[in-house]
Amino acid sequence: MEENLLHIKNDAVSLVMDADNLAELNQIYIDFLGRSGKLTKELKNLKDVPQEKRPEVGKLANEIKTAIETIISDKKKLLKQGKRVERAEKLDITKPGIKPKKGSQHLVTQAIKEISQVFESIGFNRVRHPEVEWDWYAFESLNFPEDHPARDDWETFFIDEKPSEKYGPMILTPHTSSGQVREMLEQVKDKKNPSIRMLNLAKCYRRQSDVSHTEMFHQFEGLVIDEGINIGHLKGVLEYFVKSYFGKARTSRIRPYQFQFTEPSFEIDISCGICNGKGCKLCKEGWLELGGAGMVHPNVLKAGKIDPEKYTGFAFGWGVERVLMMKEGLNLPDLRLIYSNRIEFLKQF
Ligand code: DAH
Repeated sequence: MEENLLHIKNDAVSLVMDADNLAELNQIYIDFLGRSGKLTKELKNLKDVPQEKRPEVGKLANEIKTAIETIISDKKKLLKQGKRVERAEKLDITKPGIKPKKGSQHLVTQAIKEISQVFESIGFNRVRHPEVEWDWYAFESLNFPEDHPARDDWETFFIDEKPSEKYGPMILTPHTSSGQVREMLEQVKDKKNPSIRMLNLAKCYRRQSDVSHTEMFHQFEGLVIDEGINIGHLKGVLEYFVKSYFGKARTSRIRPYQFQFTEPSFEIDISCGICNGKGCKLCKEGWLELGGAGMVHPNVLKAGKIDPEKYTGFAFGWGVERVLMMKEGLNLPDLRLIYSNRIEFLKQF
């Protein structure tokens, strides 16, 4: 409130300085000190100032009110006498200025930047593929069977649009994996060698909203395709990410799992930052689950017009909000806070 009061005073002073007739001065009086003037309105916020600070702020407000009244009446007198007022006489440029309020980037934006930098430094290209997507790219081309539960409107948002004959219904993409085949098709179009190092980072949507899920969230998807790519490369990239993003002391492990579009598939864990992998209350056995990965399924390569006999690749993907929480050790009672636009919360980052 103090800052606002000082801004109001500065505004009033500079308007009074520039005014060159009585009518203008009367208007300034109304605009600042009138019943719905700026200062009068600001004074209504006094009740929100903590009790112990109120007398001090109240005093400042009074001083400012008197100052504005005085400068208006001084200026009126001068105008009546036909004198000009030099601006420099009243403006004390040696006084400390008022610090402008500074914003900061949203914590998810900060995480996106940091994650992109890690992967760009080892040759990945950051791309974005559509968030409003066809079923074919999100599921069919990724080897999902027709009756897979993810394709149900219980889990995925469907767009009210006539389904395409070729690509099926239109949806909001539920994962960044839908960029895999798009990227392959784009890359093979005019190149003989489909050498891909993709980082697709985008918004995803699922029918979920609870303390640890939001309907809109961000994921990033890595895809590397070339001749001779193997699980060792995947493990190397994961380890590089874990060490760069979470810190040198952390390590990763892969566990067999099942995804439709990778074979073999893995779940990736990182060692717990609290107990360093020994096992504690948070992680139980020393590891925290990070996301999914695997070697690109031959059917997916075929959908992307890439010869699976000649080329191999790996893919991985997981949530930005998830790694952000794990990195910052943020123990948020409700993940939805991130998108609540509460300044008090966001200001901390
Ligand atoms: N798309 C998966 C999900 O949203 C995550 C994932 C799993 C991505 C395995 C991958 C992968 O690239 O190989 O749960």
